[in-house]
Amino acid sequence: MTTAQALRDDALSRITGTSDLDTLESLRVEFLGKQGSISALLKTLGKMSPEERKEQGPLINGARTEVADAITARKEALEAEALDRRLASETLDLTLPAPQAPQGSVHPVSQVMDELAEIFADLGFSVATGPEIEDDWHNFTALNMAETHPARAMHDTFYFPDRDAVTVPASSSEAVGEKRRMLLRTHTSPVQIRSLVEQGAPIRIIAPGRVYRSDSDATHTPMFHQVEGLVIDRDIHLGHLKWTLETFLKAFFERDDIVLRLRPSYFPFTEPSVEVDVGFAMENGRRVLGGSGDDEGHGWMELLGSGMVNRRVIEFAGLDPDEWQGFAWGLGVDRLAMLKYGMDDLRAFFDGDNRWLAHYGFSAFDQPTLSAGVGAKA
Ligand code: DAH
Repeated sequence: MTTAQALRDDALSRITGTSDLDTLESLRVEFLGKQGSISALLKTLGKMSPEERKEQGPLINGARTEVADAITARKEALEAEALDRRLASETLDLTLPAPQAPQGSVHPVSQVMDELAEIFADLGFSVATGPEIEDDWHNFTALNMAETHPARAMHDTFYFPDRDAVTVPASSSEAVGEKRRMLLRTHTSPVQIRSLVEQGAPIRIIAPGRVYRSDSDATHTPMFHQVEGLVIDRDIHLGHLKWTLETFLKAFFERDDIVLRLRPSYFPFTEPSVEVDVGFAMENGRRVLGGSGDDEGHGWMELLGSGMVNRRVIEFAGLDPDEWQGFAWGLGVDRLAMLKYGMDDLRAFFDGDNRWLAHYGFSAFDQPTLSAGVGAKA
């Protein structure tokens, strides 16, 4: 046996016997590396006689090729085995349930505001907003409550210190130079004035939002929510007001048997003013709207304040009351939510208790409303 054949046999048997890639690499260096034994043999070819070279050349080159091929084949086999072992040990169980991420919910107040916006959009109303930090002109004066008006005292207003009062700038169309006290708006009615001044007439808006009064017990919180409504156009009368509120309440409570009663009342910004009552029946200790309050076993519940917009308010907003009339209303959103979804303590609305929210909140993914957004039903 020639040296080349002996080296080849030794290399092949050791290559077959290797079970790891590192050993295989050291075998490659040992036989085929720069200082390797087969490489050294190749270098001897140059010093041989032509006859000898003719005989030894194919043997040495053949040994080199065989060893190189054997290393490549063994390497592939070892790598495939390693991959199989990894695949076997790292299998993913796709049927395992994913860990639950905490999920938020839509607050009943947001839900109800969205429902209101949707229903009134169908009646041609857009949504208007105004600042919660308001001045006393928009919150009171322009709504026909002069400085000495007793209704101002009734509102338990949160005022800012006098040093925060603002002076009406010369660029304004309103009483320039007048001092205005800043306050947290006590109702959404100032949005009537702001919208009328900005957009003019005709106008149909609702204005949902937060309002503030210094008041706190089981049915009052210092912050609560109202939705204001305002329609100004030509030839508007009380019949439009009643139809609009009736249509809205039927859609909101999803009942055709909603019956309203308009009672004479007083608000400085409406004339005539009406208190709107709605008929209800007791079911399992809860008030359920529907039917006339005069029916057997029924009663009337006060729901909202409303009326034909006072001529003076239309003038304050810069419009001619002989040309433009309309109606307005103000409604407690929190109470509306309590009535529809059956909560009984207003304070829980603002406690931020996750258990309450999980129970009364709405899924953001299957509600056909604005807050819901993604995945809303058509
Ligand atoms: N702003 C009144 C309040 O907070 C509610 C109200 C009554 C609003 C009659 C109106 C209205 O627009 O016409 O008590």
